[in-house]
Amino acid sequence: MTGSALEETTVGRDLAEPWWRGAVGYEIYVRSFADSNGDGVGDLAGITGRLDYLSWLGVDAIWLTPFYPSPGHDHGYDVSDYCAVSPRHGTLEDFDVLVSEAHRRGLRVMVDIVPNHTSIEHEWFARARRYPDGPDRDRYLWAFPASGGGPPNNWRSHFGGPAWTLDEASSQYWCHLFLPEQPDLNWRNPAVRDDFDSILEWWMDRGVDGFRVDVAHGLVKDAELRDNPQIAPITEGMDPFDAFNAFEHRHDMDQSENVEVFRRWNRVCAPREAMLLGEVNAPWPDRQSRYVEPGALDQAFFLQAAFLDWAPETLLTMVRAMHDAAPQGISWVLSNHDRSRPVSRFGGGETGVRRSLAASTLFMALGGTPFLFQGEELALPDGVLSAGFHDPVSVRNAGATSGRDGCRTPMPWDSSPYNGFSTGDPWIDSELRPPEHTVEGQQADPDAPLHRYRSLLAVRREHPDMWRAPLEWIETADPQVVALRRGTIAVVANLSGRRASVSLGSPGWEPVFASQEGSRLDRPAHDAVSVPAESTVVLAQDHRRT
Ligand code: GLC
Repeated sequence: MTGSALEETTVGRDLAEPWWRGAVGYEIYVRSFADSNGDGVGDLAGITGRLDYLSWLGVDAIWLTPFYPSPGHDHGYDVSDYCAVSPRHGTLEDFDVLVSEAHRRGLRVMVDIVPNHTSIEHEWFARARRYPDGPDRDRYLWAFPASGGGPPNNWRSHFGGPAWTLDEASSQYWCHLFLPEQPDLNWRNPAVRDDFDSILEWWMDRGVDGFRVDVAHGLVKDAELRDNPQIAPITEGMDPFDAFNAFEHRHDMDQSENVEVFRRWNRVCAPREAMLLGEVNAPWPDRQSRYVEPGALDQAFFLQAAFLDWAPETLLTMVRAMHDAAPQGISWVLSNHDRSRPVSRFGGGETGVRRSLAASTLFMALGGTPFLFQGEELALPDGVLSAGFHDPVSVRNAGATSGRDGCRTPMPWDSSPYNGFSTGDPWIDSELRPPEHTVEGQQADPDAPLHRYRSLLAVRREHPDMWRAPLEWIETADPQVVALRRGTIAVVANLSGRRASVSLGSPGWEPVFASQEGSRLDRPAHDAVSVPAESTVVLAQDHRRT
């Protein structure tokens, strides 16, 4: 059992505040971060070996994607045992060492909890299927065919096709919002609720500091399993996500009862100061904010930026609306293991790097806990896959989508074979990254993005007003430019293609960070700051001059 003392490092943190106030998180896609035993799959011991790098970078918490036993149909998001470690990724002892080594460095550890569905190989599902009259049956969602035959309703799987698969032995269908191998749990069943309370307790007993909650908006389904309204036609060969979005998800997603589940979880986690961070994809800020009302989830991810290509006005409009709906309840992310990397989405090359840094800098000043996805600090573009797809979304929908593999290729540490990720053949192919895309290469180059991100995190630590002081928006003339003031800090994000000048309303500002590499930013004349195109600046009030 772990339980090592945690070094307090979050500078400026008031100890009455929960640990995540002011923290910056880092998502580790476990399969692709670091492989310690040469089998080509990332593992827990590999992560432990890289904790010094994460401390040097300056993040406060890591989120580990699922490392539990799993047949791997969705690369670990199909869990067959919630309280164990897959031999693919190590042992429970490796986990304990990881937690205690992280804590020794002041790093918090969050694990991914997958409550919407289990694996088809989970013993609950095996028994539910085998014994239709047994007590486990009702842990899942079963229904007879529609009156004319076929699936019980029109719900779709995110990964293509209907959300229902027929169990021939019982003539009933099981529900799955993802793969057939990921049967959805029935969150109206008290036994399911009790079991997850125990799972949360079990991991907190092992020392974890919080949970990332997978598909938090999906848990409870309409009790009558009503059809969703269709809002667009579905065509042959359509991208499965577009087909999913051809429906208004009135009855399968974002049901009010989800928030009740998280109120219950909060009662389990709050006494132990464990963070609950939801993957919530609710369509509007006022829906999203319900999940982070006091006593429910602590924060929910802002996922929209990870879905967008470069669209400054849309992005800034969404950011403002989401921030204002839940000023401390949003975890700001530009990317994760499900989406193309921002550098690639935002125009590639230097353009993509410049735009990603401009957006990240703004996200560091928005109050909630921002997360970087592994490799984002290197401003990595997507990996190029040479030998076919691995993501079930693309494997099962040949030709319709390239899926999520591009962002999941191995973390490039150095220029040795496989970029130092593994000594064996990695589970997913990727071209060898050039030295300027590796950690080693960037550490040696003071102008590299890695140093920009590191300085950005340092500036955030040095100026707690950046996340703690009340935020006031400063109106600007251009919808592609936002400016804000928080106490002694001002931030101007100019996402437009031209230089912009913004009046901060008072004199005496000193630039403390500029996202654009090499751009010199002069002290603002009077109260006006002039910001280069596609860049963000952070300014601190210079008390000597006020
Ligand atoms: C979440 C995960 C994604 C996974 C899905 C089903 O969206 O981020 O990777 O495929 O849930 O568990």
